[in-house]
Amino acid sequence: MTPDIFDGRHYATTRLADSEAETLPAWAYTSPEFYEREVEHIFMKVWNFIGRADHIPNPGDYFTLEFVGIPIVVVRDDAGRLRAFVNSCRHRGTIIVEGEGNNRAFKCPYHSWVYALDGELLGAPEMQKTSNFDCQQYPLFPIRLETWAGFLFITFDDKAEPLRSYLGDLTENLAGHAASDLVCTRRKVYELNCNWKLFAENAKESYHLATVHRKTINQYASAEVAKYDFVEVHGQYSMNFAEHPGSMALLKGDVGFPIIETLTGRARRGTLSPFIFPATYIAATIDTLWYLELHPHGPDRTTLVHGGCFPRVVAERPDFHEMVKPYYRRWDITIEEDNAICEMQQRGLSSRINGRGRFCHRERVVHQIDNWVLDRVLPPASRPRQGGS
Ligand code: FES
Ligand SMILES: [Fe+2]
Repeated sequence: MTPDIFDGRHYATTRLADSEAETLPAWAYTSPEFYEREVEHIFMKVWNFIGRADHIPNPGDYFTLEFVGIPIVVVRDDAGRLRAFVNSCRHRGTIIVEGEGNNRAFKCPYHSWVYALDGELLGAPEMQKTSNFDCQQYPLFPIRLETWAGFLFITFDDKAEPLRSYLGDLTENLAGHAASDLVCTRRKVYELNCNWKLFAENAKESYHLATVHRKTINQYASAEVAKYDFVEVHGQYSMNFAEHPGSMALLKGDVGFPIIETLTGRARRGTLSPFIFPATYIAATIDTLWYLELHPHGPDRTTLVHGGCFPRVVAERPDFHEMVKPYYRRWDITIEEDNAICEMQQRGLSSRINGRGRFCHRERVVHQIDNWVLDRVLPPASRPRQGGS
């Protein structure tokens, strides 16, 4: 008989304090049923990060993505307002636009229904003989979109709290990075054969620095040197601070840009790395900020988007394209290091024979992420925690 994978007893040991807890069962990373529960109770409810506003700076600019099975188009309308829609024609459902670019309007490739940038249906050929057909009743389905510091977030839940309150004191904690005046100069997309949680967990533990990144990050910001201490925060995020020499976005010996002028205090001495639940990682170091954006597609398929952002004054320097090369090289190398290990972990977890592990003290945020997920996917009666971090 198949076990009830949402029976809280399976998770009792993951609910313990992190030093006593066991890891999640392997099925949390492989089961279609567990994934579907996450979609329903997490991704359909929360604020999901989907990129930067400066990706589409001009009226008519748009990009598309798929997020938990929902095709989405994000567009800047004629008035400069950012909007998101379900990218599916209101006639018979076809995808209306693919990739990214600039359009005056969107014309469905199937029968040429035409939609304005604000989603309104402008025209539908030969529909005059269709009884009571009214274009006004068939706009593209809008998706709620809000921005914070140039970061775009969507929610599929009309009742979700405002983005600012979801993010709590993140604005104050990253104020020095003047995030809204950053421009994303590098955006790279990776298709991963792993569960979204594996990549998220990996991004938030320093245990693997000495192994997976032994020739890269570990050379200047090892867990022992940089500590990766917890910062107390309020909001749907968790944050660490790592103190280390130089920029976290460079490899040892590289020369980079000066420290961001607006930074003060500890932000000038290392890296703040907020993890916005459920799946957004930001690293704000002394001279740049980068993000990791995840689009879950199934229990073992995830799109990763990496974005590298610099202050506008830096990005407009005449020598920017030359000076930025070591940053791009560092990201190219370390992201591949992480991608490879996450896919190996997925393959191992997919074994028919497997068990539960334990957490190292450098994996407190992994434990925190796992319990944040359990708080939402388990039936209320099965949720009590006996400890936590
Ligand atoms: S499906 Fe789009 S116009 Fe027919
Ligand atoms: Fe890593």
